[in-house]
Amino acid sequence: MRGGASGGRGGASLGLIRPFIRRYSPRLIGGLFALLTVDLLQLGIPRLVKRAVDLLAHGAASQMALAQSALAIFLLAIGIAGCRFVWRYLILGFSRLVERDLRDDFFRHLLTLDRPFFQKKPVGAIMALATNDLAAVQLAGGMGLVACADAAIMGTAALACMAYISPRLTLIAVIPMPLLALLTRVLSARLHRRFLKVQEQFSHLTEFARNTITGIRLLKAYTQEASQAEVFGRLGRQYQQDNIRLARVHGTLFPISGLVGNTSLLLVIFFGGRLVIGNAITVGDFVAFISYLYLLTWPMMAVGWVANLFQRGLTSLGRLDEVMAATPTLADPARPVPFPAGQTEISLRNLHFQYEGQMQPALADVSCLLRAGEIVGLVGRSGSGKSTLCHLLARQYPVEDGGIFLNGVDINQLSLSSVRERVAYVPQDVLLFSDTVAANIGFGNPEASQEQIEAAAKICRIHEEILGFSEGYQTRIGEKGVKLSGGQRQRIALARALLLDRPLLIIDDSLSAVDLETEQEIIAGLAAYLPGRTCLIVSHRIAPLRGAARIMVLEEGRLLAQGNHEELLATSPFYRTMYQQQQMQSHREEEL
Ligand SMILES: Nc1ncnc2c1ncn2[C@@H]1O[C@H](COP(=O)(O)OP(=O)(O)O)[C@@H](O)[C@H]1O
Ligand SMILES: [Mg+2]
Repeated sequence: MRGGASGGRGGASLGLIRPFIRRYSPRLIGGLFALLTVDLLQLGIPRLVKRAVDLLAHGAASQMALAQSALAIFLLAIGIAGCRFVWRYLILGFSRLVERDLRDDFFRHLLTLDRPFFQKKPVGAIMALATNDLAAVQLAGGMGLVACADAAIMGTAALACMAYISPRLTLIAVIPMPLLALLTRVLSARLHRRFLKVQEQFSHLTEFARNTITGIRLLKAYTQEASQAEVFGRLGRQYQQDNIRLARVHGTLFPISGLVGNTSLLLVIFFGGRLVIGNAITVGDFVAFISYLYLLTWPMMAVGWVANLFQRGLTSLGRLDEVMAATPTLADPARPVPFPAGQTEISLRNLHFQYEGQMQPALADVSCLLRAGEIVGLVGRSGSGKSTLCHLLARQYPVEDGGIFLNGVDINQLSLSSVRERVAYVPQDVLLFSDTVAANIGFGNPEASQEQIEAAAKICRIHEEILGFSEGYQTRIGEKGVKLSGGQRQRIALARALLLDRPLLIIDDSLSAVDLETEQEIIAGLAAYLPGRTCLIVSHRIAPLRGAARIMVLEEGRLLAQGNHEELLATSPFYRTMYQQQQMQSHREEEL
């Protein structure tokens, strides 16, 4: 695609497929050899035709001699067919293998990248890389490679054979050929652009239909059927018009190239005919020359086509390479310190954090101590930095040295995995997989027994509701299964984290959709379920945290106050106001 997104590192990205060329070299060499054989055999046919024609022209042809020629041509044709199969099998197979390996590498690499990368790269863009761009590379590495080799071998050989018959006639015959290459190049580029347009329009159409059907209830409630139908009709018309535009280019490419090829033929018949009349070449030569001319047409078209294929392949390779060259923003230290033994204690020392591209720090000068086995609450208004603190503890963004210490060791001196595998983190926006309830709860701990799964579900006050589903713990969640409420999803996600049984539990406002009493019950139950575990519970509601040993109050990234509920009520006006407002609100809700 020309003029589209940046082409990455262009030619340099060829490095990406070099290892595959080495890995599959026998296949590649075998394929190219078969291709070469096809071309040589093909060149033999005009020679046999020439011999037969010359015999006929001299009146020296016997039935036997003609039959011999026919048999030879037949054998050549069989050889050609066989070798064609072999090269297709080997070289197109090669391109599929490259595609597969590249996709595997790409996926494996994606899994190493962390949050900051995925924040910059939308899912749609990554999916396009994994589908369209990989397909472009596959096409260039398969058909592109074949056409290129074929054009080079066949083009040169056909020209040589023609020149052997008559150099002057060859020069005349090839005059229109550059035009053919140029036309193919221009038209096939346009063909591709229109093809992309058609694809894009089709995805608009299906996406619109999908949205309409999923939102059908809202649509009816707002009586928008007519306007939706109109938009759909417009999209459909656009799609049809784009298809016609595509067909128009398709329709011109082959007739025009045929025309150019026939112009060559015209020149050859006129000038070559004169050579025959003047006895400079034989009739057989004349016929053979025309056959070679036909063999030359395809390589000339291929030149234009291949140039486009390679250009697109390289652009796509560049885009893939851009992602492959991305490195995780967090890296293990050169010599990681082993994780210190004992229960986990967290100390924040003047912790400072700013997101890339943000003017204000999300956390500033935060200092505090989370003792081992303590349940600590974290409250604050939306945007105050609560989730940011959770992300940092879960090692999702890089932190400066000297900001976070685990058991007295700077978090940057510990390996990423040693920290992550000690943290059970429940993010603010819950994600469940389309799988059974049991599989979702057991996601991080596939060996967990049914009893353990149920115990976790009981703590999270979701066990009874799960038993009420049609197939209990084996009920599927998602599109093809049961629809869960926000609160149910949150409690299942919490149970999943509890089952991990890790020393540090971080709950980022993950019970926001659960009613107040239930949230309170769950938090109260955690202490008994997690003896010796350090637990940080974020909540935008204060009430469920009243029992916590300590509550920290964040405001605009700064730690305003900390203490237990009573202490904070007495010492922090901010906390008191926040609490009173929440109390009033919940009273009002009760009255309603
Ligand atoms: N990924 C991000 N990139 C840039 N800014 C962010 C990002 N996440 C949060 N912020 C900003 O950092 C601040 C703190 O956000 P956050 O920690 O999510 O607050 P809370 O969880 O308390 O609502 C906000 O100003 C928010 O806009
Ligand atoms: Mg948050």
